[in-house]
Amino acid sequence: MNGVTGRMGAHQHLESSIVAIREQGGIVLGPGEVIWPEPVLVGRDAGRLRALGERFGLSRWTTDLGAALADPACQIYFDAQTTGLRAAGLRAAIDAGKAVYCEKPVTHDLSSAMEVVAQAERRGVKHGVVQDKLFLPGLRKLARLIADGFFGRILSVRGEFGYWVFEGPEPPAQRPSWNYRREDGGGIVIDMFCHWRYLLDNLFGPVQSVFALEAVHVPERWDEQSHRYTATADDAAYAVFELADGVVAQINSSWCTRPDRDELFELHVDGTAGSAVAGLRDCRVQPRGASPVARWNPDAPNSLALRSAWLNVPDDGVNAGGFKLQWERFLRHVVADEPFPWGLLEGAKGLQLAELAHQSSVQRRMLEIPALTT
Ligand SMILES: NC(=O)c1ccc[n+]([C@@H]2O[C@H](COP(=O)([O-])OP(=O)(O)OC[C@H]3O[C@@H](n4cnc5c(N)ncnc54)[C@H](O)[C@@H]3O)[C@@H](O)[C@H]2O)c1
Repeated sequence: MNGVTGRMGAHQHLESSIVAIREQGGIVLGPGEVIWPEPVLVGRDAGRLRALGERFGLSRWTTDLGAALADPACQIYFDAQTTGLRAAGLRAAIDAGKAVYCEKPVTHDLSSAMEVVAQAERRGVKHGVVQDKLFLPGLRKLARLIADGFFGRILSVRGEFGYWVFEGPEPPAQRPSWNYRREDGGGIVIDMFCHWRYLLDNLFGPVQSVFALEAVHVPERWDEQSHRYTATADDAAYAVFELADGVVAQINSSWCTRPDRDELFELHVDGTAGSAVAGLRDCRVQPRGASPVARWNPDAPNSLALRSAWLNVPDDGVNAGGFKLQWERFLRHVVADEPFPWGLLEGAKGLQLAELAHQSSVQRRMLEIPALTT
C-alpha cells in the first residue's frame, strides 16, 4: 500500500478498509475459506510508516518500493499517492505482474492513463480504480430505486456539490493550497468530474457530451504557511451533460458556495413516475401519485408544503463505508475471480470527461465525448 501515510491512504484505505476487514476476521469466501489482507506499508518516511504500523499492529513496512514489488507474496499494489506520482507507481507494479488498485484520478492526464490501461491489458493483470461514491448509502438507495423502475422514464438529473472553502489565513483553508493552483494539478474539474463520470455512467447511462463553464471566483488565497498566493485553478464549474436516451444532467461544483440543503452533495432526479433527492447518506422520494398539484401564482403566498411532500427511503442495513465495500469487491475479484466492473479504463473515462469539460470551457461550446478504447 503506497501513499498510505496520506489523508486518504491512512484513513479511508488502511484504517477504515484493510484494518476493518482484518478486525471483522477477513472476507469469508466459503466454509473454512477466508481472504486475509496482509498489508506492507510503503512510503518515504520510515518513522511515519513505523508509527502507522504500530498504531494498527502491522509490522510490515518499507521505504523500498522495488523490494516490495519483487516480493512474490505481495499480490496487489495499491496507490493513494499524490496524483502526479501515480502513473510511475502503477507502471512499475504492472511490470512486476501485480494486480493494481488505485485512487482517482488514475493518473494526472488522459494520455498517461491510457498508457497504463494498455500496459495492464498487455500484462494481463487484474486492475481497479476507487469509485467510492457508488458505494455510499444515499447513492445505493438511488441505484435501488432506478433498478426497481421507480422513476418511470428518467428525464433529468440535477446535482449540487460544494461548500465554502475559506481563503485563509483566518480561518485557515480546509483544503490544501495546491488544489487552487493549476500548475500543481489543482482545480475542481479534475478533482470532481472523475466522480461525476462514473456516477452518471453507472446510474443513468453513458455521458455523451459536456458543456462546462469554469470559474476562478476567488483569485487570491493564503497557503499553509499563511503566505498569500494567486489562485490559478478553477474553484467552481457549472456543467451540463447529455446522457443516453435524452436524459439531461446538470451539476454545479463549487468551493465558493454556502449550501442550503441537507448534505454537501445532492442529486435531484426527475422521472415520469416519480422524483428523488439522493445525498451521500439519505435519499427521499416523491411518487407521481403523491405529488402536490402546484399552480404558478406569484401574487399569492405559496399554499403547498413542498418540503413535507417527500418520503425517506429506509437504510439497507449495510453498515460499512463506501471505500471498504469496494475493497471487499476488489479482493474477491483478485482471489475468487468475481466480476469487478470498475477497472482502470473506467477511471480513465473520468479524466477524459475532466479534460473535455476544461476544453469546453475554454472554447465556450458543447463537446461530444468519443468512445474510449485501448
Ligand atoms: N476518492 C476520493 O474521494 C478522494 C478524495 C481525496 C483525494 N483523493 C485522491 O487521493 C490521492 C491522495 O490524496 P490525499 O488527499 O490523501 O493527499 P495527501 O497529500 O494527504 O497524501 C499523499 C500521499 O502521497 C505521498 N507523497 C507525496 N509526495 C510524495 C513524493 N514526492 N514521493 C512519494 N510519496 C509522496 C504522501 O507522503 C502521502 O502518503 C490523490 O490522488 C487524490 O486525488 C481521492
